Amino acid sequence: MTVFTEETRARAREIIARYPADRSRSALLPLLHLVQAEEGYVSPAGVEFCAEVLGLNKAQVGAVATFYTMYKRRPTGDYLVSVCTNTMCNVLGGQEVYDTLSEHLGVGHDETTADGKITLEHAECLAACDYGPVMTVNYDFFDNVDPQTAVGVVDELRAGGRPMPTRGARLCTLKEMAVQLAGFADEREGAVADGGPGEPSLRGLRLAQQHGISVPGFDPNTPIRSKAEAEKAAAEAKARAEAEKAKAEPAAPAVQAKGGDGASAPTGVETATPEQAAGSTTRDVKAPDDTSPQVRTAQTRQPDAATAVPDAPGTKVPSDPVPPAPRDAQEAEAAGVAANPPAGDAKPAGDEAGAQERNLKEAEAGKGATGTGPAVASETGGQK
Ligand code: FES
Repeated sequence: MTVFTEETRARAREIIARYPADRSRSALLPLLHLVQAEEGYVSPAGVEFCAEVLGLNKAQVGAVATFYTMYKRRPTGDYLVSVCTNTMCNVLGGQEVYDTLSEHLGVGHDETTADGKITLEHAECLAACDYGPVMTVNYDFFDNVDPQTAVGVVDELRAGGRPMPTRGARLCTLKEMAVQLAGFADEREGAVADGGPGEPSLRGLRLAQQHGISVPGFDPNTPIRSKAEAEKAAAEAKARAEAEKAKAEPAAPAVQAKGGDGASAPTGVETATPEQAAGSTTRDVKAPDDTSPQVRTAQTRQPDAATAVPDAPGTKVPSDPVPPAPRDAQEAEAAGVAANPPAGDAKPAGDEAGAQERNLKEAEAGKGATGTGPAVASETGGQK
């Protein structure tokens, strides 16, 4: 079993110190990169190390390590060659590049050459569709590759060379890259790439300029306000709008009489956004939506609801307006529940403490882990 070096342990302490004391488990992702930097993959010893320094159990660490593809569960080569075979790259020849490399190297997906130099994998979209087909070596890009150039890159790597990526930093080994992903700078000269975006990434902007397309009323020099500033400005604008509305209200009946249909005519203040009411010159710019995500979700799901506000925890829900189902339908539903006990433990997700307490109680009562299913059946049967 690997004993991690003092340097790794010191770096682990440094990573953990970056997080609030009661949030140290958030350091797990960089710590997994750190152990990968020492061993080339996340070994059982690496999982145990992370669990130990973060006070987690190995199952919790393993659940994270097996979720993300950047954490390797088997020893890798010095260079991880990832070929994008997703939609855009695929139609441009990405699969052909992958197949050629696979045949040339004699390895398949997630396999390493016998000399320990190259691990090959096919990858989902690498977020560089404008340069497809693309492949990366230790996450540095080689753009617009074809089978021949891809073979040239891996041959050079196996011969001890370090070809320059199309853009980005100089190549390093996968272990060196893992150190950077753990949050430590690459100190090599020229290791940090610079330069602006390439022409393919700017193509949309160029076309928009060429055709005079722009967002109406958008001022690129508009300062970005902090949330607190935005909330304060919105509250002030709302107060001003309400004051204006209160002043204008006595005139409303006359407007209604003129309209003749009983509907309130717009006063000009009611329909203005807070920014317009505040005299903003950028009238075409939509006001920021400060509605909470929960309220927005509720409004989307029930656009016709009078008040589409989600229930706060502990809120008493008014009685269900839907009339109760006929008795025979209730009986049919109860029979269905009895015949189909819920999968798993049927307990709500994310309630670890509650689940543990319930498991304890069930164990004390002599029930098994699947006690919920039969209990539902027997309860349902009792109702019948
Ligand atoms: S599909 Fe290959 S980078 Fe997006």
